[in-house]
Amino acid sequence: ASDRQEQTYVGAIDQGTMGTRFLVFGESGEVQASAYERHEQIVPAPGRLEHDPREVWENTQSVIANGLDRGGIEPSQLAGLGVTNQRETTVLWERASGEPVHNAVVWSDRRNSDRFDDLRSEDVEWIRERTGLAADAFFSAPKLEWLLDGVSTSGRGDLRARARNGELCFGTVDSWLVYKLTGVHATDVSNASRTMLFDIHELAWDDELLAEFGVPRPMLPEVNPSSAVYGRTDEAGVFETELPVAGVIADQQAALLGQACFDPGDLKATYGTGTFALMNTGPEPIGSERGLLTTVGFQLGDGPVQYALEGAAPTTGGAIDWLDSVGLVDSPVEIESLASAAESSGGVSLVPAFDGLGTPYWEPRARGTIHGLTRGTDRGELVRATLEAVGYQTRQLIEAMAAETDWETEPIHVDGGVVKNDFFCQLQADLLQRELRRPAVDATTALGAAYAAGLCVGYWDSPEDLPEWELGAQFDPDGETDVIDREYERWLDAVEQCREWADR
Ligand code: G3P
Repeated sequence: ASDRQEQTYVGAIDQGTMGTRFLVFGESGEVQASAYERHEQIVPAPGRLEHDPREVWENTQSVIANGLDRGGIEPSQLAGLGVTNQRETTVLWERASGEPVHNAVVWSDRRNSDRFDDLRSEDVEWIRERTGLAADAFFSAPKLEWLLDGVSTSGRGDLRARARNGELCFGTVDSWLVYKLTGVHATDVSNASRTMLFDIHELAWDDELLAEFGVPRPMLPEVNPSSAVYGRTDEAGVFETELPVAGVIADQQAALLGQACFDPGDLKATYGTGTFALMNTGPEPIGSERGLLTTVGFQLGDGPVQYALEGAAPTTGGAIDWLDSVGLVDSPVEIESLASAAESSGGVSLVPAFDGLGTPYWEPRARGTIHGLTRGTDRGELVRATLEAVGYQTRQLIEAMAAETDWETEPIHVDGGVVKNDFFCQLQADLLQRELRRPAVDATTALGAAYAAGLCVGYWDSPEDLPEWELGAQFDPDGETDVIDREYERWLDAVEQCREWADR
């Protein structure tokens, strides 16, 4: 790492569902500067969610400028730049002008769910085998299919024909930002593995999948390792200098890296907009019969791909925000005090299927339910039932992983907005009957992207050279196991009823 004296830092852009963050990290992984901005959540109809790619790009530039300014950091002090992003969200833009042709269709948007309804079980099976994914509108291919079908008939010309001519680019948000930053149309293996167009065994775009969703190959980005030089920023751009974009990695996979989950069996759970639990399963993909996803974890340079098993629950932060939006709490701080004052949920079971159900059910039409209300149910019990639901759904994801791999796993590394709440962390440890560890650095997602970039440019020489994972807080399980198990079973019953309701 010869440039360490002059180039003291690594930058990371974390483009998430709710907003965009820019962080600058030093050699021991400490945050030197950061800035954040939210963007608009555009809801054209219930069950649909869009972001304006132009706004996301503008915010990216302003958080970079603000972050550098706040930290008193010159762009020339950055050894490289990593990009991490909300996954699956689908952007379509014109290659020549760099202008989007439609708003981005966000991962939680289920607008093209119907297309899976009549899929034969053998088709569900080969798609799952090849992509590692459940047949669900959560992933990019059905979103892109909808854009190519729907927007084509809305007066913007035949988008499929334009895509075949190479006039249009498809990408997840990483690709969109890399295109804007460097002019290069590329993505990494972890993001590609979320599109449902990518063969995770061959590590290549797959012709049969492209045919299934009607996607012309010329519109696809080039696929690189997560740690590789993608291109250089433009001197005329926000950095005013040429910086290597040297790491690109999907946000949940970036958190796996940022949580130092390098070995098979290492497990992290991120509680953000949704809850995503990922376990490193090593260089061979492990299939699932339990609705878990098999996905690319990361690939560092020429090294082997590390695969992961993933449990995905789409609604976590969304359920907690709902408490605020319906006026059950006045501020997020009140959540902790109300939930801890309530001794229990008073028999209330809440199923947070606001955006459908993910692992293990994959039911886009399921909707949230509340069971067990009485005249005496109070705010505290409802708040507590919501936090318990987040805990139970995570237990379900982690139990599925344990059943699939039969591995003894290490304590669970947790991160994301919700785990800032100590009461929730203790509750989660109790409901899981497992030890939880929260790291000292909470920006694990951005840190993972910084690691990918820093390893590529030699800021860190090798994974062994990365900073030690540092414990912030540990939560040991407490509570009576039989009571907890009984309550969990009752919550699972409530989920079954919510599924029946969805079928009506
Ligand atoms: O798969 C969706 C996931 O990447 C979203 O992450 O952190 O933006 O909620 P986040």
